[in-house]
Amino acid sequence: MKPAFYVTTPIYYVNDVPHIGHAYTTLAADVLARYKRLKGFDVFFLTGTDEHGQKVEKAANAAGETPLELADRVMKRFQALWDKLNISNTDFIRTTQERHKKGVATLFERVLEKGDIYLGEYEDWYCTPCETFWTETQLIDFKCPDCNRPTEKLKEESYFFRMSKYQDQLLAYIEANPDFIQPKSRKNEILSFIKEGLRDLSVSRTTFQWGIPVPGNDKHVVYVWFDALANYITALGYPDETGNFGKFWPADVQLIGKDILRFHAVYWPTFLMAAGLPIPKRLFAHGWWTVEGQKMSKSLQNVVEPNMLIDKYGADAVRYFLLREVPFGLDGDFSHTALIHRINSDLANDLGNLLNRSTAMLGKYFDGVLPEPGEETALDAAYREKTSAMVVQVDALLEDLAFSKTLQAIWEVISAGNKYIDETAPWTLAKDPAQKERLGTVMYYMLESQRIVYFLLSAFMPKTSEKGLGYLGWTTAPDDQGLAWGGLKAGTVITKAEALFPRIDEKGE
Ligand code: MSP
Repeated sequence: MKPAFYVTTPIYYVNDVPHIGHAYTTLAADVLARYKRLKGFDVFFLTGTDEHGQKVEKAANAAGETPLELADRVMKRFQALWDKLNISNTDFIRTTQERHKKGVATLFERVLEKGDIYLGEYEDWYCTPCETFWTETQLIDFKCPDCNRPTEKLKEESYFFRMSKYQDQLLAYIEANPDFIQPKSRKNEILSFIKEGLRDLSVSRTTFQWGIPVPGNDKHVVYVWFDALANYITALGYPDETGNFGKFWPADVQLIGKDILRFHAVYWPTFLMAAGLPIPKRLFAHGWWTVEGQKMSKSLQNVVEPNMLIDKYGADAVRYFLLREVPFGLDGDFSHTALIHRINSDLANDLGNLLNRSTAMLGKYFDGVLPEPGEETALDAAYREKTSAMVVQVDALLEDLAFSKTLQAIWEVISAGNKYIDETAPWTLAKDPAQKERLGTVMYYMLESQRIVYFLLSAFMPKTSEKGLGYLGWTTAPDDQGLAWGGLKAGTVITKAEALFPRIDEKGE
C-alpha cells in the first residue's frame, strides 16, 4: 500500500478576489503534492474557500447580494485560477457545504459535552457603526481604531472555549515536536505568546447571522475561525473517522501565511486536543509579498492579478518565479522587471537553450536517434554524479520546504550541462569519424541528465516538464524509479526542441 501524505492550504475568504499572495500558498502546496506523488505517495491535497462570517456578510451587503450569491461567484474565480495555474488539488472544500456544516456542528457539540465549551458573557468595547468588539488595549483614546468613533462597553452572551486549560499541554506538544511550527523564528513567537497566558476564547457570535448555528442554540453562530479551521478534517469526512480521515489525518504539512499562524498554532491544536483528535505534524508559515516595494492593497490599486500574469507569461513561468525568487518563509517583493529577468535568464537562456542545443545536435549527428553510450570518462562521471546527487539533494531540500534552494540545485545541473557541452565540444568530435562513439556518449549524457532534470521539474512546471520529456522521447509519467541514471534507452527517437520560453523584451511589451 502506498504511504499517505496530506497537505493543506488555508481556505480563502470570498470577500476578496484571488491575488498572487493566495496563489503563492496554493502553488507551494501543489509542488509538494506533485513531488510526493512522483515519490509514490498517496496524496490528499486540500484547498477551498472560507465563506462564513461578518466580513463576508458585509461584503455581500455592499455588493447587493446574499452572502451565498457572493460566495458562489467568488469561489468560481478561485477555482478558475487554480485550473489555469495547473493546481492538482484532490478536493475543494466550501464552508457552506453540508458535509462541512455537519462536521463543525459535531465538533462543537463534542467539545461542549466535554465541558470545554461553556456559555458565558463577553465583555468588551463595542463600536456600533463598525459592529466590532475591541479589547481595551486595541482602542486609541477609547475610540475605535478603525473609524475613530466613540466605543461603549457592552456585554454579549457568548460560548467560550476553555483554551486556558490546554496551555501546558500545548507547550508540551510544541517542545516534544520541534518541527511542528516552522520556520523556527515563528515558533519562538508562538511560544512567547502562549507563555504570556492563554485566555478562554469566545467561539460564538450573536451580532450577525451568516454562519453555522450553534447546535441547540441558534441565537448564536459558530465563530468563523472555529468553523474555518475544522475544514481540514471535515473535508476528510469527519465525524466519520474511518475512510479518508483514518487514512490521512493528522495532516503532514499545513501551509499558511505568517499572518494566520496564531490561529493554526494555538487555536487549532487546542480545539483538536479538546476533541481528542491528533495534532497536525507540521505547520509552515511563509512570508508576505509586497509589490514593487509596497504593501499590496485595493486602495493602492497595486494588487497583482495572477490571471493577467499567466496570460502574459504562462503558468509555468509564474510558478517558477514565485517559488524561485524568494526563500519560503521570508517576505518577498514582486516586480515585473524581476519576473522578466528570471524568464529570460533562467528559463529561456539556461533551461530552454540547453534542450534546444542538445536535441539539435542529436538531430544533426545521429538523425535524432539516441546512440548507446560508450566508455565513461572522468568528465562524464562527474556530470552523471552531479545529476544523481541533485536527486538526493532535492529530496532533502523539499522535505525542508526550501523551494528556492531546490530550484537552485536543479539549475546547477542545467548549468553543468551547458558547461559539459562546451568542454566536450561535440562539433569538434563530429568532424572526426573515429570519434563517433565518443560523440555518442556525450550525446547520451547530456540528454539523460536533462531527462532527470525534467522529471524533477514536473513538480514545479508540469507543462514544461511534459514538453521537455516529449522532445526527449519519454512518453510515460515521471515516477520514482525513473529518477535513477540510465532511463533513456538507445534507439529512442528525440525531436529538436522549439524554444520552451521565448525571450521577452525587457520592457515587458
Ligand atoms: N480565511 C482565512 C484562512 C482560514 S484557514 C482555516 C484567511 N483567508 S485569506 O484569504 O485572507 O488569506 C489566505 C492566505 O493568503 C493566508 O495564508 C495569507 O497569508 C495569504 N496571503 C494573503 N495576502 C498575502 C500576501 N500579500 N503575500 C503572501 N501571502 C498572502 O486568512
